[in-house]
Order: sequence, then C-alpha cells, then structure tokens
Amino acid sequence: MNGNMLIKNAAELVTCSGFGAKKGKEMADLHTIEDGAVIIKEGVIEAVGPSGDIEKQFQETGADQSDFDIIDARGKAVLPGFVDSHTHLVFGGYRAEEFSWRLRGDSYMEIMQRGGGIANTVNATRKASDEELLQSGIKRLNSMLSFGVTTVEGKSGYGLDSDTEIRQLEVMASLDQVHYLDVVPTFLGAHAVPPEYKDRPDAFIDFMADEVLPRVADQNLAEFCDIFCEQNVFSVEQARRLLTRAKDLGLKLKLHADEIVQLGGAELAAELGAVSADHLLQASDRGIKDMATAGVVATLLPATAFSLKEPYANGRKMIDSNCAVALATDFNPGSCFTESIPLVIALATLYMNISTEEAICAMTINGAAALDRADQIGSIDSGKKGDIIILEFPSYTYIPYHLTVSTVEKVIKQGNLVFDKEKGGIIHC
Ligand code: NIG
Ligand code: FE
Repeated sequence: MNGNMLIKNAAELVTCSGFGAKKGKEMADLHTIEDGAVIIKEGVIEAVGPSGDIEKQFQETGADQSDFDIIDARGKAVLPGFVDSHTHLVFGGYRAEEFSWRLRGDSYMEIMQRGGGIANTVNATRKASDEELLQSGIKRLNSMLSFGVTTVEGKSGYGLDSDTEIRQLEVMASLDQVHYLDVVPTFLGAHAVPPEYKDRPDAFIDFMADEVLPRVADQNLAEFCDIFCEQNVFSVEQARRLLTRAKDLGLKLKLHADEIVQLGGAELAAELGAVSADHLLQASDRGIKDMATAGVVATLLPATAFSLKEPYANGRKMIDSNCAVALATDFNPGSCFTESIPLVIALATLYMNISTEEAICAMTINGAAALDRADQIGSIDSGKKGDIIILEFPSYTYIPYHLTVSTVEKVIKQGNLVFDKEKGGIIHC
C-alpha cells in the first residue's frame, strides 16, 4: 500500500473538476472524460485525462511500473469518492422503538418533547465506554466505505455535558486515525437541552459557550460548531450567541436550520458566514437568497425527510437561485438511521427535482465544500487526494437508476485499493 496507482480505460471518468463550491447552473457540468485515466502518486492525483495521453505520460516519466497498482476500468465509470458532510456517527444505543411510534402517528418533535428522542441516545452515550463507541464507530465507517464514502463528517451532541461531548470528539479523532475514512469532527453540544437544564436553555447555552466550547477549541477537537436551531429547541438568538462565540474561538460554523418550522436559520447562517446550513425543509425565499449571496452551502438531507414523512427541501429552487447544494445522509440513531448514498441520490432525483448530474456534484465536490475541503477532495483533479470510486457499470447514470442498491465496486483511498466487492469487501492491510 504505497499510494501509487494507474486507473486506465475508464468508460466514463467523472472528474467533477473544481476547487470550490459549484453554484446553480455550474452543478450540472460533471466534466466527464470518455475513455479516461488517472495517475495517483503517493496518495495524490498526479495526472488526469484521456487514457492515450495519460498512459503515454506514464511511460515517459520512466516510473517503475511494478511500483504501481494498475486497474483496468474498461466498461466502468470512475468518480471521486463520495463526501458525506452531515452525520451523527458516534453514539450509544439504538431507538428502533421510535420508528414504530412514528408509524402509529407520533411526530419526531412530540417524542423529543416527552423526553425520548435525542435524550434517549444521550443516556446511552453517557454510559458507553470509549472502546464501545470506537468499535461501533468502526463498524459504521465500514458500512459507509462500502457505499463509496471516502470522507465523512461526524457530530458530537449525544453528551450534552462537558466530558461526554469531549469523549465523542476524541473518539472521532481516533476513528480518523484507525480507519481508512477521513473523519471531520463537528461540535454539536447544543443539540438539545439536557434534563439538568430543563426549562433553562439560556443557562445551557452559557454553559456550552463559556465552559465546553473553550475546551473543545483549546484541544483542537473540532473543525466546526453546529447547533439544532428549531422551535422548542434553540432559538435564532441562542444560536447566534453560541455560534458567534465559536467563531471567535476559531471554529467554522454549521447549523441545523429550518427543519420542521421556518425560524430564520438560513438567514442566520448567511449573516454569520456559516460554511453550511443543513436540512432547510422550511427555508424561506429570503433565506435561500441570502445563502446564495453569502456562499453558504445548502446541505440537503432527503433521507431524513423521507424517514420522518416531512416535505422535501426545495432543492430545485435553491439551485435555480444560484445556491451551492450538497447532499448528505444525516446518518443518526433517531430521525434517519441510514448510511445509504444511493437512497439519498434516489430521493433527491425523484422527489427534489434535482438532476442526476446535480446530485453527483452535490455528493462530491459540493460535499467537500460543505466541509471547507474543496481544495483537497471532492473531484479528480491533479494535486487532490487520490480518493476515487469505480462503479460496476459504465456510467454515473446507473447510480439512481439502480434504485437504492450500491453500484460501487471498488473504493480507492489515497491511491490504495481499500474496498473491492469482487474480493469480498474491505481490504485490510
Ligand atoms: O439531524 N435534527 C436534529 N438532529 C438530528 C437527529 C438526531 C437524533 O434524532 O438523534 C438530525 O436529524
Ligand atoms: Fe443532523
């Protein structure tokens, strides 16, 4: 595993070329090369282009070919690895019973208000050992990898106290170390008001802002700070207060915004210069315009809307309003227990009026932009990490067409083959 690889003869090389978020109309151009090839050297993409040119270059550089893994991708599509930019992957316990309660008519917010929901996972996470959180995290990352995800964001938010929040972030740092996937940590200490602060949300925000956030920043445990800005959870004013403090401490910002009720979360994200605003089922026209102007990535999570039987976010309107739209799973134990990228893409294309090209852009380069990493990942461009997937089929159009079934045959992480369906799954070094 030296990170050297030549992938050649790809029926379709989908580069998604670019080093920043793609807005509006730009999302539809995937910069595809027919019969394409890629050279990856020591984990970094060195050359991309038509197979003839790239193979010639490969010969001419005099590289020792035995030092390279050579993959013939004849009849297959090659794409950048997927970037899942919104998940809650470190948690204890499960909440299968809630799914049944929702089937009989209870809403997500009703369950949360009567002390279930997030609070339930908080109890289980506080009790879980670091080792348990690590081992369950590894299993979840394995599953994500099998869907072609090469970078994933993970949020804390199931501790709601200083120690457990920090523990969740430390587990994410360990996961980043021990697993092939890159894990980007987000501090979501303001995910719900814990029982200790019942009816005192302002005092809880003070606690997070004055005690927990500084620890997180000091120890460099998170790149982003997020908050669940929602009616009966945290107000726009409380979100502004916490996120402003986070920004002062050097964290980048994200928001769970306008999910169930239109509260002005999208507008706040624009006001504060957040990197992304997420969910947005109820975002206002003003909020959509503000996000486009401020360059906030609108991260849509259609599997959550599907699972909660809520209306889908208006992805079409956001793209037509010149927003950069990203798609993500929102993998979590409550509202959306799925790692399935093909499910997300199927829902986005069938129910959000997003084209297949736009959906692929939203899962790759715009997912990277939602993590402020579009200069390093999310496309097949020279200088970026060699994070690449190879499909079983000749075109990216098979991704939504093969309804909810993964079409990913091989996953390459920094130039190394780490998953191969034909070899039984994950390749352990
Ligand atoms: O993004 N909306 C709030 N947070 C998560 C759900 C967390 C949970 O239910 O455990 C979400 O949907
Ligand atoms: Fe979420």
